[in-house]
Amino acid sequence: MTKRRTALITGATSGIGRATAVHLAGRGYDIAAVGRRSDRLAALRGELPTACLPLPGDLSEAGVAEQVVCEALEAFGGLDVVVAAAGHGRGYGPVGEADHRVWPAAVALNLTAAMQLTAAAAEPLRGSGGTLVLIGSVFGVDPAPDYAAYAAAKHGLRGFARSVRREKGMDGVRICLINPGTTNTEFASVIRGDGEPMVHDPSVWGFEPLLPEDVAAAVGWVVDQPAHVNVEELTLRATRDR
Ligand SMILES: NC(=O)c1ccc[n+]([C@@H]2O[C@H](COP(=O)([O-])OP(=O)(O)OC[C@H]3O[C@@H](n4cnc5c(N)ncnc54)[C@H](OP(=O)(O)O)[C@@H]3O)[C@@H](O)[C@H]2O)c1
Repeated sequence: MTKRRTALITGATSGIGRATAVHLAGRGYDIAAVGRRSDRLAALRGELPTACLPLPGDLSEAGVAEQVVCEALEAFGGLDVVVAAAGHGRGYGPVGEADHRVWPAAVALNLTAAMQLTAAAAEPLRGSGGTLVLIGSVFGVDPAPDYAAYAAAKHGLRGFARSVRREKGMDGVRICLINPGTTNTEFASVIRGDGEPMVHDPSVWGFEPLLPEDVAAAVGWVVDQPAHVNVEELTLRATRDR
């Protein structure tokens, strides 16, 4: 019997992570899906054509990143792909005015949890010759005002990804950092805290943003490369995004 391919995806309840789960499941991957909203995980499970293991958990809490990797390994017996997409831009605003009390939790999610997920997944990915995709941001390369804490975390993630790639490549593990630009997800509504989704309307930004499916397709392309090819970093911006 052919071994089934498996992927663990954080941020699977919304936006880029969810679109990546749908994309990879469409190509036959069984999915371990991580997010806090259990109802969304249950809905995803009902939608995917392959097996889906819902793993509810708050990744900003210590130990949760390791725990979800353990649970996925227990259920699937191995991991071929790990995608760290969970993140948010809370703590937005000019330094000195922004709510800096949320910065530790934001860094814990945007940076520390992705690092811990990587540490926990390193050995299983070595076993499978697998691929780790970290979702960074254009602000991790080219920071914008009002996003200082978020940019700091994403810059940290970029440094981490580049260092780990040089270690784990020797083990046959591929590490890729994908830096999306403005993407039509719940990202802005989480910052605003109003629960209203972004509207896919060019008048909101003055240009047509990326769709989460665009980023998911990029993840699929990275994973599809021959085993000796590691796409180290990929930046995607909407065509008219300045
Ligand atoms: N949208 C953009 O313009 C943009 C641009 C560049 C980079 N990014 C990056 O893309 C990634 C995905 O964001 P998105 O745009 O798809 O936003 P999104 O639609 O808001 O999705 C964020 C995901 O992160 C999960 N999450 C948030 N806090 C969490 C926590 N404490 N523990 C576990 N999971 C948590 C959410 O699930 P629950 O709420 O269910 O926990 C959700 O699934 C993030 O890393 C973000 O920084 C986004």
